[in-house]
Amino acid sequence: MKIVLFVLVLASSSHQDIELQTSSVVRGSLGERVSLPCRIVGWYSVRALTVVWTKDQDVPVYTHRAGEGEAASGFQGRASLDQSQLDAGNVSLLLSDSSPLDEGNYTCQVGRASGRVELKLGGLGSRPQFLVDSFRSSRSLSLSCWSRGWHPNPVVSWTSSDGQTLTGAPLDDEEQGASVLKDVRDGVTLTVQSGLNVTCTMRNPVLQTQSEEVLTITGDFPPDVSPWLLAFWGVFPLVAMASGIIGYFFKRKRDSVKEKERQVREAEREPLMKQDEYAELKKELSAARAVSNSEWKRVLSKRTKIFSLTPGSEGPELSSGSHYWEVILRDVRRWTVGVKKEEAVLGRDSFPETGVWSFSYSPEKGYCAWLHPPFPITPSSQPKRVGILLDYSEGQLTLYDPGTKPAQRLYTFNAIFTTPVRPFYE
Ligand SMILES: *[C@@H]1O[C@H](CO)[C@@H](O)[C@H](O)[C@H]1NC(C)=O
Ligand SMILES: *[C@@H]1O[C@H](CO)[C@@H](O)[C@H](O)[C@H]1NC(C)=O
Ligand SMILES: *[C@@H]1O[C@H](CO)[C@@H](O)[C@H](O)[C@H]1NC(C)=O
Repeated sequence: MKIVLFVLVLASSSHQDIELQTSSVVRGSLGERVSLPCRIVGWYSVRALTVVWTKDQDVPVYTHRAGEGEAASGFQGRASLDQSQLDAGNVSLLLSDSSPLDEGNYTCQVGRASGRVELKLGGLGSRPQFLVDSFRSSRSLSLSCWSRGWHPNPVVSWTSSDGQTLTGAPLDDEEQGASVLKDVRDGVTLTVQSGLNVTCTMRNPVLQTQSEEVLTITGDFPPDVSPWLLAFWGVFPLVAMASGIIGYFFKRKRDSVKEKERQVREAEREPLMKQDEYAELKKELSAARAVSNSEWKRVLSKRTKIFSLTPGSEGPELSSGSHYWEVILRDVRRWTVGVKKEEAVLGRDSFPETGVWSFSYSPEKGYCAWLHPPFPITPSSQPKRVGILLDYSEGQLTLYDPGTKPAQRLYTFNAIFTTPVRPFYE
C-alpha cells in the first residue's frame, strides 16, 4: 500500500512542469458538438496521466484515469476525449448536444497544471419576418420584425434605404414556450414611400453572426388603401411559410385571427395533417377570435341607435368617430354586410380598392372578407347576427359574431377613410 502511494507521488511530481495550452473563450452553436481545447505543451502521452475536467465551482465533468475515461452525471454520453489525440497530449473535451446549461467556465487539470476555458453558446434564430402592425397615418407605418429560436437575445437594428434613423423597441408580449430558445419581436414606426427598403437585422452577440431580412414597400403614393393592402399581402406570404413552426406566437390577440385563419387553411390543404393537430388549430383560432369582456364593453359602448338595417338598405353617412351596429341576418343563406363609399357600386368588384369594405356569406364561397382576392373566414359557428364596429378616424372596420359567448372577432379591415361611408346590408 505504501509503495503504491510512493509511486503516485513520484509520478505526479515528475510532471510538475506540465504546461497546458487552452483558449480563454470558446463560442459554439447550441445543440452542436463543441470542443474545449486543452493541450499539453511539448510532447506527452496522456495515457498514464489523470486528466480531470470540471466546470464552474468544481462540478465534475469528465475524468480520464489509468487509460479509462468516465463522464460525470449530466455529461454521460455527451462528454469525451478524442482517444486518437491522447498520444499527442491533446486532452480537449468534446461535448455534444450542447445546451445553455453547459455554458460556463471549464477547468482542464493534468497533474498540478490547470487551464481554464469559458464556453459561450448561442442559437441563431430563424430569418426575421415582417408583420405590418398598423398604419398610423397615410405615410406612417408601424412594422414589426420577429424571429424565433434565439439564445441569448439578439441585438436588433433597423435601417431604411432613405437614411431615416429608426429606433426599434422590443415588443415582448409574446408568450414564450418552455424552450430556452426565445422568440423575439421588435417594432418600429417609420415614414414610408414607394420603393423604400427596410432592413431588420438580428445579431447574435455570442456567435457574432446575424440574420436579416429586407422589406420592399411597393405601391404608388400618396396612397389610398390599395398600396397598403398590397404591402400587407406582399409581406404576409413570408409569415405564412413559417406558419407551421410558430404555433403559440399567434395566440396574440391583436392580429392573431387573420394569421390563424391562414394556418387553418394551410392545414386544410395539407393531406397528411393529423386530425388532432387540425382540431388544435381550430381551437386556437377560436381562442384568437375571442373578445375579452372589457373590449366587448368598449365595443358595445359605441352602439348606435340611429339606424337599423333590413336587406337592401343603407345607413346614414358616417365620417367620424366610432360606431357599432348589428345586422340581424334575415336570410342566412346569402348576405353581404359592411360599409361603402357613397359613389361605390356593389357588385362583383366590391373591394376596399373600389370603396367597399364587406363581409359576406354564400353557399359557394362560404364566409369571406372581400379583399382582392377574397379572404375566407371560418367562424366557429354560423352567425345569426353580425356586429360591425367602424372606427372611422383609426381606419378600422371590425366584424364580430356577437351571438357567441364570448363574442368573436371575425375580421378587421385596416383602411384609410377619406370620404364618408355608409353601412349597408345586401
Ligand atoms: C485536439 O483534439 C480535438 C478533438 O479531436 C481537435 O478538434 C483539435 O484540433 C485538436 N487540437 C490540436 C492542437 O491538434
Ligand atoms: C467565467 O469567468 C469569467 C471571468 O472570470 C466571468 O466573467 C464569467 O462570468 C464566468 N462565467 C460563468 C458562466 O460563470
Ligand atoms: C431595394 O431593394 C431592391 C431589391 O433588392 C433593389 O432592387 C432596389 O434598388 C432597392 N431600393 C433602394 C432604394 O435601395
